Amino acid sequence: MKAGGRFITLEGGEGTGKSTLIAGLSDALRDRGRNVIVTREPGGTRLAEDVRALALNPPDGESWSPLSHALLMNTARDDHLNKLIRPALERGDWVLCDRFADSTRAYQRVDGQDIETLINIEHAVVRETRPDLTLVLDGAPENLAERRRERGVQDVFEQKDLDFHASIRAAFLEIAEVEPDRCVVIDALQTPEQVLADALNVIDERLEHS
Ligand code: TMP
Repeated sequence: MKAGGRFITLEGGEGTGKSTLIAGLSDALRDRGRNVIVTREPGGTRLAEDVRALALNPPDGESWSPLSHALLMNTARDDHLNKLIRPALERGDWVLCDRFADSTRAYQRVDGQDIETLINIEHAVVRETRPDLTLVLDGAPENLAERRRERGVQDVFEQKDLDFHASIRAAFLEIAEVEPDRCVVIDALQTPEQVLADALNVIDERLEHS
């Protein structure tokens, strides 16, 4: 049970500014006296970070099938939920997580895994620990490409072409449309200050007064 804690996830394609937003949000929420845990997926615990390295940077010449990727992401997620997210929510902390289950639904589906299998695995792993709020950072991939180039480091997903990123964008927008009670889309092409202001407004409306 959440017992006062709040679980907020940030989703979106590469270069949408999730890291900048999460830093701004954690400062703002701490200023309000909240205990805030910032974490990410895949990752967040020692084992899950090891899985992240294996999933995102396989040895040269090797690659994972979409199903293997989905299982690896969920293996990391199970450890992350058990050891970090659920205990934090039980303490009453606010958990800000950079990517969560929607990223598996988007990326592994676009890579070819059927959505039924993905949802079945997700339900087995996430169970009742669904996010209270998911902020979907959205922008046209061609406008975000410059930001991706500036970041430099590339993993297996970042190297893909604009069509792939357009499909990822569409997949996130579809999730947001199907689950409007949980998801809010924010325009990622605004200034970082405006993105943060929008996110805080949503949090005020949906979580602070609930
Ligand atoms: P990032 O969080 O630093 O952007 O990188 C994580 C990468 O992993 C990103 O390309 C999306 C991908 N990913 C998946 O494919 N499935 C998942 O379930 C998660 C959490 C991430």
